[in-house]
Amino acid sequence: MTRRAVVVGTGHYLPERVVENAEFEATLDTTDEWIRSRSGIERRHFAAEGETTSDMAAKAAERALADAGLTADDLDAIVVATSTPDLTFPSAATMVQSKLGMTKGFAFDVQAVCAGFVYALSNASALIASGQASRVMVIGAETFSRIMDWTDRSTCVLFGDGAGALLLEAQEQPGTNTDRGILSTDLNSDGRYKDLLYVDGGVSTQSTGHLRMQGNQVFRHAVEKLASTANTALDRAGLSAADVDWIVPHQANIRIIQGTAKKMGLSMDNVVVTVQDHGNTSAASIPLALSVGKERGQIKEGDLIVTEAIGGGLAWGAVVLRW
Ligand code: UT7
Repeated sequence: MTRRAVVVGTGHYLPERVVENAEFEATLDTTDEWIRSRSGIERRHFAAEGETTSDMAAKAAERALADAGLTADDLDAIVVATSTPDLTFPSAATMVQSKLGMTKGFAFDVQAVCAGFVYALSNASALIASGQASRVMVIGAETFSRIMDWTDRSTCVLFGDGAGALLLEAQEQPGTNTDRGILSTDLNSDGRYKDLLYVDGGVSTQSTGHLRMQGNQVFRHAVEKLASTANTALDRAGLSAADVDWIVPHQANIRIIQGTAKKMGLSMDNVVVTVQDHGNTSAASIPLALSVGKERGQIKEGDLIVTEAIGGGLAWGAVVLRW
C-alpha cells in the first residue's frame, strides 16, 4: 500500500468587486476588444480596501473544510502559496491558522509566483507521503491588485485577486497509477530569466514595487515549457496525455492554454477555463479553477487531472493527481 495525498475538500473565495475590461478604457489607451482577443480575459475581481490575502485565504479554507465535513482541529498543517502576503512576516499561512482558530500543527508560505500552487501541492504531498502530516490545507491566495502599475496597460489589465483551497488527506492506496491522490510532480526554475517577470521592489530594497513583465517573452517560454512539464509529470506516473480527463492550467492567457492543450494532443473540451472571469490570479488561479471546475460538475471523483503553471523566476511545474 502507498500513502497518497487525496483531495477531500475544495473551496474558493473571490472578492465582491468585479471589474469589466471596459472600465480600463476610461484611464488607459486600451480596449475591451484588445484585452479579450490577446488574453481571453473579460473581467477580474479586486479586493476591497483593507481586504488582505490572508482574509481571502481563510475564507477559501473555511469553505474547503465545510466541503470535507471537517474542522480546523482536524488539520495538521497549512501551506499558503502567495507572492502577496499581508506582511513581510509572519507568513500568511500562520495568519490563516489564527483566523481558522487552529492552535496546533504548523503553517508556512511558499513563494514561487504563478507556479506557487504547483510547488505548494508538491510540498504538501511530500509531507503526507513521509508521514509528517495527515491532513494539509493547501491554499493559493493573491492580491496582485496591490502591485500593479495602473499606468502600464501591458500588465494592469491582466491580473486579479482571489483565493482557492484544497484539503489533502493521507489515504492508503494500492500503489498504482489508478490510485486516487497526487501521483507525480515536476518542478523547475531558471533564475537567468528573472528580468522577464519581476516586481521592482521588495523588503531589502525598501519599497513595495510594481510588477514588470516582458509579456511576449514569457508567452514564448510558457508555450514551450508547459506541455513539456505536464508530459514529464505524466511520464513519471506511467501515464500519458491520452489518459488525462482534465488539464487544469494556470489561467494567464487563453492562447497559452489553447497552445498547451494542442501540444499535448488534447481538445479544449478537456480543459477547465476560468481566465475569462478571474484574469490572472497568480498562485490562486489553479485552486480557483479546480474548485470552480468541481462546482460546475466538470471534475468528478476518479478523474485524472494534470495542473501546470509558469511564472516569475522563471519557475514552472506540473502535478498529476487523480481526483
Ligand atoms: O502568470 C505569469 C505568466 N504570465 C503570462 O503567462 C503572460 C504571458 N504573456 C501574455 O499573456 C501576452 O504576451 C500578453 C497578453 C501580455 C500580450 O500579448 P501579446 O500578443 O504578446 O502582445 P505584445 O506584448 O507583443 O504587444 C502587442 C502590442 C504592442 O504594441 P506595438 O508595440 O505592437 O505597437 C503593445 O504595446 O499591443 C500593445 N499593448 C496593448 N494595446 C492595447 C500592450 N498592452 C495593451 C493593452 N491595450 N492593454
